[in-house]
Amino acid sequence: MRSILFLALAAVFGQAASAAEPAPARVALSAARLVAPDQGKVIEHPLVLIEGERVTEVRSGGAAPDGYTRIDLGNATLLPGLIDCHVHLSADPTLSSGNYYKDTLQRSAIDDAVTAHLFAQRTLEAGFTTVRNLGAGEYIDVALRNAIDRGTLAGPRILAATLPLGATGGHADDTTGFSPYIQFHGQTGVADGVDAVRVRVREDVKRGADVIKFMASAGVLSAEESVGAPQYSQAEMDAIVDEAHRWGKRVAAHAHGAEAIRMAIKAGVDSVEHASLIDDEGLKLAKQHGTYLVFDIYNDDYILAEYARLGFPASMTEKEKKVGRLQRESFRRAVKTGEKLAFGTDAGVYPHGWNGKQFAKMVEWGMTPMQAIQAATTNAADLLGWADKVGAVAPGRYADLIAVDGDPLADIAVLEHVRFVMKGGAVVKGAAAR
Ligand code: ARG
Repeated sequence: MRSILFLALAAVFGQAASAAEPAPARVALSAARLVAPDQGKVIEHPLVLIEGERVTEVRSGGAAPDGYTRIDLGNATLLPGLIDCHVHLSADPTLSSGNYYKDTLQRSAIDDAVTAHLFAQRTLEAGFTTVRNLGAGEYIDVALRNAIDRGTLAGPRILAATLPLGATGGHADDTTGFSPYIQFHGQTGVADGVDAVRVRVREDVKRGADVIKFMASAGVLSAEESVGAPQYSQAEMDAIVDEAHRWGKRVAAHAHGAEAIRMAIKAGVDSVEHASLIDDEGLKLAKQHGTYLVFDIYNDDYILAEYARLGFPASMTEKEKKVGRLQRESFRRAVKTGEKLAFGTDAGVYPHGWNGKQFAKMVEWGMTPMQAIQAATTNAADLLGWADKVGAVAPGRYADLIAVDGDPLADIAVLEHVRFVMKGGAVVKGAAAR
């Protein structure tokens, strides 16, 4: 009965949709140059042909064909839309009251939910057309992703991790350090033991997760004493990865400490986040396993400058001092040993929309500008499993493009000032025509 009703509805809606379907818009986008990170080169005087939400052709020079609306960005440089592999759109330091404990006790997940769209919009306007949201309470990231995909809200394409898995007392456990009589009534990713972590992965997948996040080690902005000690056993990490991969989901592991990083790589994670204290063996293992490393190396500046004023406990800023500088040195070694590196900032720890500030750090600590751009396009798309959709301006990919004034290969910091953003063929920022 239900299937008959469904078929009837499908017929009605299917017909209505095809009758109203307008011909896809045809746009010819031109500028002075296009950085093509997938080819490691620059195309002079690009003419990008777009039909509907996809790129159909990339030419060098020439006039727009008949039937195309021309958007000429003059002397600007075009690039593929940028990808941030590590954000938290449900958090932002500008929401802080200046007192960590007041915020913990008075703010709820609903507060986080109602502001998340603002941060999604800021991220998009900063040129990031795709993000991986690596952890949010109450499935806020799923609701946000769906509203953006539906066209209700402006924001980047989102891969949602939903509730991050973590051990009792660990980086994902919000009540660590509080009186045992304080309990929060939200849903939690805390799970212990191989059976429980498997159930927890299944629950995330059931609720809409695109990717699974777990806390392999302790963290900075949480109450544990250590910053890098492993928080899951090898058997638990193995079970999380095995279960997630069975359901077709990739896995991102938060890990600062060398041992936790090695354990996560051996478990088969797709990316290690932070990777702050990775040692030579960890670098070797990552190479062997093809594991991406996602170093959020801008964070340290912001945390050390602002977190005392924002009312965070000194124990956390002290932990930051233990990893910040070393993380940058680890990043430099990882560039030298030729690891697979993807761009991820942990935005939400610092203000959304500032994502592009990390590029200059990456160049300061050893990457060429082209490598830094590849980390946020080619490599990021590969890590996400979306290499056929995003990360390059090429036929068949989404028409996700940005433009900056000047040449990012000469001055990477121009990526902090994105003046034009197109997502899926629609101009979301900047002159519609020039
Ligand atoms: N969310 C991370 C944590 O609390 C932030 C680490 C930031 N510090 C850094 N140097 N990347 O562990």
